[in-house]
Amino acid sequence: MSKDDASKLRANWNYPTQVRFGVGRIAELAEACRAAGIAKPLIVTDPGLAKLPMIESALAALRKAGLGASLFSDLRSNPVAANVTAGLARYREGGHDGVVAFGGGSALDCGKTIAFMAGQKRPMWDFEDVGDNWTRADSKGIAPVVAVPTTSGTGSEVGRASVITNEESHVKKIIFHPKMMPVVVIADPELTVGLPPHVTAATGMDALAHNLEAYLAPGYHPLAEGIAVEGIRLVKEWLPVAVKDGKNLVARSHMMAAAAMGATAFQKGLGAIHALSHPVGALYDTHHGLTNAVVMPYVLLFNRTAIEPKLIRLAAWLGLPKPSFQAVLDWVLALRREIGIPHTLKDLGVGMDRLDQLSEMAAVDPTAGGNPVPVGVPELKRMFVASIEGRL
Ligand SMILES: NC(=O)c1ccc[n+]([C@@H]2O[C@H](COP(=O)([O-])OP(=O)(O)OC[C@H]3O[C@@H](n4cnc5c(N)ncnc54)[C@H](O)[C@@H]3O)[C@@H](O)[C@H]2O)c1
Ligand SMILES: [Fe+2]
Repeated sequence: MSKDDASKLRANWNYPTQVRFGVGRIAELAEACRAAGIAKPLIVTDPGLAKLPMIESALAALRKAGLGASLFSDLRSNPVAANVTAGLARYREGGHDGVVAFGGGSALDCGKTIAFMAGQKRPMWDFEDVGDNWTRADSKGIAPVVAVPTTSGTGSEVGRASVITNEESHVKKIIFHPKMMPVVVIADPELTVGLPPHVTAATGMDALAHNLEAYLAPGYHPLAEGIAVEGIRLVKEWLPVAVKDGKNLVARSHMMAAAAMGATAFQKGLGAIHALSHPVGALYDTHHGLTNAVVMPYVLLFNRTAIEPKLIRLAAWLGLPKPSFQAVLDWVLALRREIGIPHTLKDLGVGMDRLDQLSEMAAVDPTAGGNPVPVGVPELKRMFVASIEGRL
């Protein structure tokens, strides 16, 4: 497919925030900063991306437009609190008035948290997504963010939360505030054409996990469910294409939309896929989307009794022959094989030695509460064992 076909996949959306979607729209970065009220942006990205021409071009374009931009790229994949602290120091020293969060989920989350913390007096962990902790924040102290995703997975560009790892306790924590939502998003699928196939696959499975868990989480939220089922269909049609042919801008466009849809839908909740994945990521530093992809079929099977009727409806929407629970499970397994996702957590280096610790951490992860079947330590342990050993 050519660029011409993708040129039709272009639009301005005002839901869930202002989204400028389409190939080439990175050209609007300076204008987007102005629209967000930013005159001196700090670009927050990761060290790998900082070496790519897209960051250099963004810096040059902002400076040319008279915006006093500078760059912060000292952050890791699965960012830790020290990355936020260092970025915040740079933000304050440079006299910045907003953040351009540019990259995958790691850079977006770090950038959003730096902007959130810009005018806070309390320490970051006071704003962990527990109860109404977010009300402790001074909302006037939150700096504006323009988000530019370069992976199609986390959907953090349209999310009100960030995932930051506490390096002392080795726990992934969620920092939440409704005003953490970026003011403007530039969703330019062309920025993702250089994503290697294995990262495309892993991040795309994160988008699938968000849509799937949001659809299946208990509670009445038909808005979220409507978004989620279409997000799942887009992943089904386009993720294998994007993995095989990274230059296909139609596939890249639909995957970028599916990622934003997942994060929009998961206001309804997530579930055990994420509850298992967060401690594995925190203890073994595995990629988030890849870990979700590995545990997905084991969690679906565990939840079978509670989710069967909904999966039958989903199977029909996806056009699977003979709509059934098994049809969806078989599709997930086939998709994983097709795009090169390993079958077991053992393949990611996870053994039985830390099973108790993993299960206890999963049980207190905030996403565990959204699982369709209530789960505690014993249930999560069962799912971990199945995922490590590959028992379906
Ligand atoms: N905020 C949320 O709602 C939310 C949701 C899910 C996950 N997360 C978090 O997001 C993080 C994962 O984000 P991710 O999956 O996007 O991965 P990532 O941001 O860690 O990036 C993965 C790798 O891809 C590279 N990369 C990114 N874009 C590229 C491009 N266009 N071309 C070439 N290389 C590129 C990066 O340099 C990095 O090496 C985790 O910390 C996870 O916990 C957040
Ligand atoms: Fe996720």
